Amino acid sequence: MSGTSFEPSIIAFCCHFCAYNAADLAGSLRVPYPPSVRIIKVMCTGRIDMRFMLRCLAEGADGVLAAGCLEGECHYMEGNLRARKRIDGIKRQLDETGIEPERLRMINISASDGPLFARLVTEFAADLKQMGPSPVRLTERKVWEEHRDRSRT
Ligand code: FES
Repeated sequence: MSGTSFEPSIIAFCCHFCAYNAADLAGSLRVPYPPSVRIIKVMCTGRIDMRFMLRCLAEGADGVLAAGCLEGECHYMEGNLRARKRIDGIKRQLDETGIEPERLRMINISASDGPLFARLVTEFAADLKQMGPSPVRLTERKVWEEHRDRSRT
């Protein structure tokens, strides 16, 4: 499905305090960004269970975004720093399985920067478009299941 017709599906976990408001502002200002982005509001990126991010890929998302407050401005102190650390860890696991780690991305943004939110999401969509559809769709749920099994031990 590569080529010009491919529109990557993106799940964006946005923190309640900053990124979600930035996304909302982008909408209010009518700054366009790809309609294939689905936003899930979380209280803080530090609350994102990494299994959810992997599950999104396993269920067919082409990219998953975690969008939180600027570093040093997380409303739960260091939630966004912990999230970045976890995401970096998951990316290394993905690398080992041959799935492009670039399909996961974290951004930090202030609530007042709607246009930047739109730009960063648009850039992510463009990068995913270059990569083509997620290979996880083809390898089914392998990554998700391995991570789930590991987290149970
Ligand atoms: Fe926004 Fe923690 S409250 S990332």
